[in-house]
Amino acid sequence: MSQIKRVRGFQDIYGENARKYRYVVDTARNIFEKYNFEEIILPFVEDVSLFVRSVGEETDIVQKEMYVFEDRGGRKVALRPEGTASAVRAYIEEKLYAKGGYQKLFYEGAMFRYERPQAGRYRQFHQIGAEIFGVDSPVADAELIKMVQDILDSLGIQTRLEINTLGDFESRKRYMEVLRQFLKGVEDSLCEDCRKRIERNPLRVLDCKVEGCRQATADAPVLMDFISEKSLERFERLKEYLTGLGVDFTVNPRLVRGLDYYTDTVFEFITDKIGAQGTVAAGGRYDTLVKQLGGPDTPALGFAAGIERLMLLVETMPEDQPLVSVIPVVSEFNIQALKAAQFLRKEGIKTELILKEGSLKSKMKVANKFGSRFVVFVSEKPELKDMESGEQELFENIQDLIEVVSGKLKGALG
Ligand code: HAM
Repeated sequence: MSQIKRVRGFQDIYGENARKYRYVVDTARNIFEKYNFEEIILPFVEDVSLFVRSVGEETDIVQKEMYVFEDRGGRKVALRPEGTASAVRAYIEEKLYAKGGYQKLFYEGAMFRYERPQAGRYRQFHQIGAEIFGVDSPVADAELIKMVQDILDSLGIQTRLEINTLGDFESRKRYMEVLRQFLKGVEDSLCEDCRKRIERNPLRVLDCKVEGCRQATADAPVLMDFISEKSLERFERLKEYLTGLGVDFTVNPRLVRGLDYYTDTVFEFITDKIGAQGTVAAGGRYDTLVKQLGGPDTPALGFAAGIERLMLLVETMPEDQPLVSVIPVVSEFNIQALKAAQFLRKEGIKTELILKEGSLKSKMKVANKFGSRFVVFVSEKPELKDMESGEQELFENIQDLIEVVSGKLKGALG
């Protein structure tokens, strides 16, 4: 029979990688909770128009990358390519604004984009992300960025932070017109994608990675010269707060991001260690989006980080809990062994009862494969083997043994 393979761009995450995935998510969760963010669990499937109206009709995500299909009820739906649009929809639909004050939400989970797969880029990938609704002050921008930095620091990941301001919607529109005129003048030197972008999404030409495009746009007008006093002032304040917090950054006037909803602050945490897919975490403000999607006028901001990219950069993880394996010496002791394993687990000890029957030697082999730190032989009198030193010790009963092994494990964890 022919074997069925996983679909291109999709991955199985198992073994050490699954542990790493969990470690990344748990680390982020701890920090989200410390910053008083609340979890929101969002659907994987949304009305396709949610993304068209938020991420933007002309973006790569909407044009080329979304998994769109008709469900059995004839609804045109999409697998979510990102989390912000869903968070905004939920904020409006669940009237989260009615709670008063402001809202801080975090989420975790799978996103889907039909991109060309390569290291650090998949068609199903996973994000951790957070959004703040209802705060205008750049204090929020600074704190959000600091929180991302805290997550990266906790994971031992080094990156550089780039920030920029896109200004408000009006100034950006004015700038886009000027930029369009400029780009038309250098059209022949641009790559095919960028030529299409001139009309549709001229800002994206500025962060094209193709060398020819970079050179052709080296003297392009700069957005910073077009943005309002107010936007410039809020950018100055953000820089001041980041400096005050000890967060290093550089201003990259060409940083524009690939989603249309951003206003004012945008930022990216970047690494050179994982090839072309160097952005590990990214975000910014989207002060007009809630209103645009039919909600009350609400400033908002957020970020998301790719879990797989973070995993590629995590070098050390805390030691796994040591394992104790329980082996009934002969099958007459199976019941005692079943119970002994239960006692050990009740003590909080990670325990494997060797489930295969057979010779003692074959069971020891399995215990070794699992990397057991100790083995408990269950017989008339239980016996404990330290797999590191090779020492064996006989006990009167299982309770005495558990007390000793428990003490030893605590000692080992120090
Ligand atoms: P984004 O830049 O599209 O922003 O994605 C955020 C992060 O998700 C990227 O920096 C990257 O680490 C990861 N990522 C994106 N695509 C892939 C892929 N195909 N494979 C692996 N990882 C990927 C957003 O999604 C916005 N929603 C961020 C945001 C939240 N802005 C405001 N709030």
